[in-house]
Amino acid sequence: MDLQGKKIVLGLSGGVACYKAAELCRALIKQGAQVHVVMTEAATHFIGAVTMQALSGNPVWLDQWDARMANNMAHIDLTRGADAILIAPCSADFMRKLAHGACDDLLSTLCVARPHGVPLLVAPAMNVEMWQNAATQRNAATLRADGIQLFGPGAGEQACGETGLGRMLEPEQILDELVASFQHKILAGKRVLITAGPTFEAIDPVRGITNLSSGKMGYAIARAAREAGAEVTLVSGPTALPTPFGVRRIDVLSAQQMMDAVMAGVEGQHVFIGVAAVADWRVANASEQKLKKQEGGAAPALEFVQNPDILATVAATTSLSGWPYCVGFAAESENLVEYGAAKRERKGIPLLVGNIGHHTFGQDENSIVLFDESGHTVLPRADKLTLARQLVSEIGKRLEARSLLT
Ligand code: C5P
Repeated sequence: MDLQGKKIVLGLSGGVACYKAAELCRALIKQGAQVHVVMTEAATHFIGAVTMQALSGNPVWLDQWDARMANNMAHIDLTRGADAILIAPCSADFMRKLAHGACDDLLSTLCVARPHGVPLLVAPAMNVEMWQNAATQRNAATLRADGIQLFGPGAGEQACGETGLGRMLEPEQILDELVASFQHKILAGKRVLITAGPTFEAIDPVRGITNLSSGKMGYAIARAAREAGAEVTLVSGPTALPTPFGVRRIDVLSAQQMMDAVMAGVEGQHVFIGVAAVADWRVANASEQKLKKQEGGAAPALEFVQNPDILATVAATTSLSGWPYCVGFAAESENLVEYGAAKRERKGIPLLVGNIGHHTFGQDENSIVLFDESGHTVLPRADKLTLARQLVSEIGKRLEARSLLT
């Protein structure tokens, strides 16, 4: 539960996207947050306070004259001890109020009254013309300059029938952004390239050879790196996983395609992490036409040729500049400590991540061992996102140590 124990003030301003705030409220609670909902008068025209109260399990606050707060200071009491104030949806008018420090209703007043250090996060939601309007863009720039984080808006079809930027992000995306906002930005300003998933080596146009890699670990690392402030590119073999929010994904099938995509994008990267389970061989005599089965005929004779080693190739290019910092993965079924250290040397990389056991494919949990020049460290069993965050933090520390050296 990524928001365990966090107190979140969820503010709703007027907009049809209020219907998504109900789902968002549920998602926050599911992640362990305590949610206190505050609504503007306009928001109550789009969704009932009763709904938000039932979903949050807490009283809903509508105006500053509400006598339920014993000291009559809801704007103070709600914000003290809050971990974040999240305005979703945030209308064009509410952005204007935030940009000008207005205090003419409870929600705007509590935003101004929030203690220093309580992050204010807003998910804009409005018609495309309203978003693109010069005044709204000026207000958005003011909010950013004031340290208020904007989540989105997204682009697409709008409730009014028009299309373009201005849609509120989906509840899951807002949740991911909120969780990310609590993570340490150890990779801020860094570019990270990651390979993930299996590769697919064609036998003919409809058949091929692949492996059981699910891509879960690589995708978790991509998410964790983005949360840590990096600009992330994910070169992915075929998987069924959704792209982590804010990550650029390039889809490939074969090892050769993965190699080409990596080499095309590796320049200027600070970190390369090879998580993909790349096929060691591809079929040398793949058929352009579908192979036909013949009654009593022989099975096709496949010939294999070795695939390029993407990680070792990238590592070899680092000898001049020292960048990108290369991280590899190894799945061993025995002698992990010995094999892991040897593989790190063989691949010519500063950090190798060993999987303990060889049954990690497709699992949600894992335990890993980090091998670097000074030995090995065990990261005990945990879910893959937790491990990915720990790994990203370890990579960040090593990058910091490097930049101190250079
Ligand atoms: O040699 P082995 O396949 O065990 O090494 C695994 C590591 O090397 C992983 O990080 C994997 O992504 C990378 N690798 C690669 N290209 C290959 C084979 C492995 O990048 N052809």
